[in-house]
Amino acid sequence: MKQRDISFLDLKSVTELHGDEIRSAINKVVDSGWYLHGECTRQFEEDFAKYIGTKYCIGVGNGLEALSLILRAYKELGKLKDGDEVIVPANTFIASVLAITENNLIPVFAEPRLDTLVIDDSAVEALITERTRAIMIVHLYGRCSYTTRIGELCNKHNLLLIEDNAQAHGCRSNSSSHRSISENDSSFFIPHSSFPRTGSLGHAAGHSFYPGKNLGAMGDGGAVTTDDLELAEAIRSLGNYGSSAKYVYKYKGENSRLDELQAAVLDVKLRHLDEDNARRQQIAAHYYDNISNPHVTLPVRLPDANNVYHIFPVLCEERDKLQSFLKERGIQTLIHYPVAPHQQECYKEYSHLSLPVTERIHREELSLPMSPSLTIDDAKYVAECINEFML
Ligand SMILES: Cc1ncc(COP(=O)(O)O)c(C=O)c1O
Repeated sequence: MKQRDISFLDLKSVTELHGDEIRSAINKVVDSGWYLHGECTRQFEEDFAKYIGTKYCIGVGNGLEALSLILRAYKELGKLKDGDEVIVPANTFIASVLAITENNLIPVFAEPRLDTLVIDDSAVEALITERTRAIMIVHLYGRCSYTTRIGELCNKHNLLLIEDNAQAHGCRSNSSSHRSISENDSSFFIPHSSFPRTGSLGHAAGHSFYPGKNLGAMGDGGAVTTDDLELAEAIRSLGNYGSSAKYVYKYKGENSRLDELQAAVLDVKLRHLDEDNARRQQIAAHYYDNISNPHVTLPVRLPDANNVYHIFPVLCEERDKLQSFLKERGIQTLIHYPVAPHQQECYKEYSHLSLPVTERIHREELSLPMSPSLTIDDAKYVAECINEFML
């Protein structure tokens, strides 16, 4: 087998997939002389809301601010208060937890399932107390983590359901408990299914457009999607210094906005998101069909609609050896993530917690190369190298 050089994610080649359209969109913004709060942002918000299947989309500065503004707005609206508990998967990226703690709310860590790597819905009910007010589900790695049971728990206990959709743009839920979105006016986005998209399943969702995401900007960007007008208005105001009208301040707000350049780039990439995700699904299918090393465990395979493969994680007891073995063969892998939030220095107050499934995932997880610019030959080489790995 001839050695190849495969990076984990080659952002330059991902950009080049739609390079001409992106450059032309950027040039239009440059020539317009209008860089914030303009037509590109308005248009992207409209297109993204339509794509996700919600009434409202508010562009914000990044994914952390999207999540944090949702919680802050609920506090301003009297639906959350200091000390309320928010259930969150323990193996999420730190930002989900930061959004909770920076609002003086208490994160309650739920274990994930070892086979799906997302929140274990059977572990959630036992965590609900009289102070629980919300569940934040995280569609980690691009995998839909919503289940009927989670929806039912939220209804039964009157909890807010917040989605962290940073890693799952374009993913859908096939849970039968959910409404279908109206697709009359969205044929542009080739909706081959009537299943609702992640980002439209709960009361509100936070999205990140960090460059490496499935829908990635060329810098920072984020958005909130929701059907709740009151919440949407509060978030728009909070992200604009708390302003309700020009120079009138209802809240002590902050500055969190999506700029025109990022919005223009995102609108181009949104048009290609389904095709880019389909490419990721082809690469993933190759991994699933061809990786057969008994020392390497692949997460349970979901129908394509329910996984947009932001990251392709595998588990291996000798994760570090596997990573070096692949590196020697020219394959770059990453770890998402080496240390769980409750074991981070900044969360010392949670270091006593024992979360064995989470801790095992953090010890064993390795992320294989995955992007829409990867070729099937690349995926073939990765699978062959993994199959050669021996302990
Ligand atoms: C699951 C998850 N939540 C939140 C974020 C935060 O997004 P951002 O980097 O745009 O602040 C990220 C990504 O970085 C993420 O992966």
